[in-house]
Amino acid sequence: MSSLIRLQKFIAMAGLASRRGAEKMIVAGRVKVDGRPVRKLGTKIDPAKNRVEVDSRFVSMLPEKKYFLLHKPAGFLTTVRDPRGRPTVMDLLPGKIKKGLFPVGRLDRDTTGLLLLTNDGELAFRLTHPRFEVEKGYLALVRGVPSSGDLKKFKQGILLADGRTSPAEAEISSVKRGDALLSITLREGRKRQIKRMCAALDHPIISLKRVSFAFLTLEGLAPHAFRALTTTEISGLSSIVGLK
Ligand code: URA
Repeated sequence: MSSLIRLQKFIAMAGLASRRGAEKMIVAGRVKVDGRPVRKLGTKIDPAKNRVEVDSRFVSMLPEKKYFLLHKPAGFLTTVRDPRGRPTVMDLLPGKIKKGLFPVGRLDRDTTGLLLLTNDGELAFRLTHPRFEVEKGYLALVRGVPSSGDLKKFKQGILLADGRTSPAEAEISSVKRGDALLSITLREGRKRQIKRMCAALDHPIISLKRVSFAFLTLEGLAPHAFRALTTTEISGLSSIVGLK
């Protein structure tokens, strides 16, 4: 099935100009279809078949890729939509920018910290796939103080109901009133993984915050706040997972 649309509409939909602006581009001879200049208004094209150029640059109607870093507060589900109507991380983003975005991996409702959101499915898939071993850093306040033997178990792997965890690191950051703040680094991301690991060692989690994702941190970002990733950060993440 072919779906023809007017050239000016296609250019406008690709976000290059308004419909009127696109008409001006066409009349001015700045637009080519399959390598041939087209100056006639009303020319129809098939976006799936015809290659459109404006000023010798190919025009794509693929949605622009977007990447955001959110400082998630507690109380929000990491999902695009909750059938029960509970607050989700999408509620923390303005309507204009959240269209098409989804969270990269997941933080539990009561977990705070760094969460990426994007509409780039390939990058999101790779960033969360254990094969790529992307490092995620957490600060976990646990009940009691784990022994050095307990901390070693993070490296050795801890047996959970869904199998042994892959090597992780944990060290004690501080101890307050008999409870330890652990700095933990994971390279995989199973459901409730840190809570289950700590519970297995008899040091249940009191609170959990993700403080880093690869080289990204929460620096300068208060809870509830978000920012767009820079192009350098996007290419950095892409190269970590073999996309560039
Ligand atoms: N591990 C957990 O248990 N919960 C999270 O939200 C993230 C890692």
